[in-house]
Amino acid sequence: MADKQELKSIFLKLNDESDTIALAEQLAPLLCGTDPRLPDAVPGGRIHLRGDLGTGKTSFARAFLRAAGIRGRIKSPSYALLESYKLSNLYFYHLDFYRFRDPREWLDAGFREILQKEAVVLIEWPEQAGNSLPPPDLEISLEYADIGRNVRLAAHSNRGLSWLITLAPSLQKYLAEDNPGAAW
Ligand SMILES: Nc1ncnc2c1ncn2[C@@H]1O[C@H](COP(=O)(O)OP(=O)(O)OP(=O)(O)O)[C@@H](O)[C@H]1O
Ligand SMILES: [Mg+2]
Repeated sequence: MADKQELKSIFLKLNDESDTIALAEQLAPLLCGTDPRLPDAVPGGRIHLRGDLGTGKTSFARAFLRAAGIRGRIKSPSYALLESYKLSNLYFYHLDFYRFRDPREWLDAGFREILQKEAVVLIEWPEQAGNSLPPPDLEISLEYADIGRNVRLAAHSNRGLSWLITLAPSLQKYLAEDNPGAAW
């Protein structure tokens, strides 16, 4: 359901992991500030990844980080809670709150300052952090479908909206059939 901060949402059908990877590869340059389609974009931004176990949150994050230029092993943060990277002065934080039971843990762990920086932040299981997280620029919700995944992209900020508008032409082939949000 749309909340009052949601500016726009579109629905996609991603048939297999290569489609999830393609979506990540489309988004990464926008947050890195290297996409020629959005030349004035300031690097940084926050994405929340929602969906049941195994729906593809880490697949997306890994492909995103790879497309951003991170080399070497990209670990899932399911145990460490946080994996961080730095690439030409831009910080990348990949978080997974699945194991969080008490939102105070988040405050105690000092992660809050991560949100204050101009960084790229990807958060799996944001709902586990309770109300302590501000809304993201973009929320990606993944759901199991008969084949592949039904995916919803929801912009919660003007920055997220600019990403969706920029991406729209490249996402045409993934658009779900019943897609009220896709009318621009
Ligand atoms: N669009 C897709 N259609 C079908 N399978 C997909 C799709 N995208 C990713 N997958 C597959 O789904 C699985 C996703 O695993 P992944 O670890 O990314 O899930 P997760 O959402 O991070 O789970 P967890 O909540 O446990 O962290 C992988 O096996 C991947 O190949
Ligand atoms: Mg995961």
